[in-house]
Amino acid sequence: MKTIVILISGRGSNMQAIVEANLPVHIAAVISNRADAAGLSYAQSKGIATRVVDHRNYDSREAFDAALMQTIDALKPDLVVLAGFMRILTEGFVNHYQGRLINIHPSLLPAFPGLATHAQALKAGVKVHGCTVHFVTPQVDHGPIVVQAEVPVEPGDTPETLAARVLAQEHRIYPQAIRWFAQDRLTITPDGRVNVQGVEALSDS
Ligand code: GRF
Repeated sequence: MKTIVILISGRGSNMQAIVEANLPVHIAAVISNRADAAGLSYAQSKGIATRVVDHRNYDSREAFDAALMQTIDALKPDLVVLAGFMRILTEGFVNHYQGRLINIHPSLLPAFPGLATHAQALKAGVKVHGCTVHFVTPQVDHGPIVVQAEVPVEPGDTPETLAARVLAQEHRIYPQAIRWFAQDRLTITPDGRVNVQGVEALSDS
């Protein structure tokens, strides 16, 4: 069975969806950069080990990432899962976990990288929005796409109503992507695409 660690910074609803999906993985720990992340108490209530690596205790991004890397590597994970982890990671960190670091982003990448994606989508007037699970590369919100889900933008949507519709899909596709990883079905091609063994290209089912 593969071992994963999940990194969070706050609410942790994606982490919760991953835990509740009962995937064939061992969750070695949930790690947060904030001691007050709400998701930590959920993880503890499920008997999952938790760790806090507080970024404020380090004077540089490099020092924080080194400490984080040490904490992660002690757990020997096959996959590191970013689930609402709100820190930009250094190139050294990202390269260290090449092919075993994934993220969920609340937009249909490459549209709307960065923050406030739902407001960005409403401002752009797009008719469909959604979320993306991708392998992480040094460029923020970039990297080989594992799976995407789309949702309609409805008349009268606010960033909050749109976020809720997207979040429901995040909670569906993130466990799916990790299940594929656990089943050894994901390969990254040299040109940066993800093949999912047994699933037709572009489908999320
Ligand atoms: C999610 O929308 C995720 O896509 C984004 O941050 C949010 C985290 O939510 N990166 P949660 O902590 O998983 O509830």
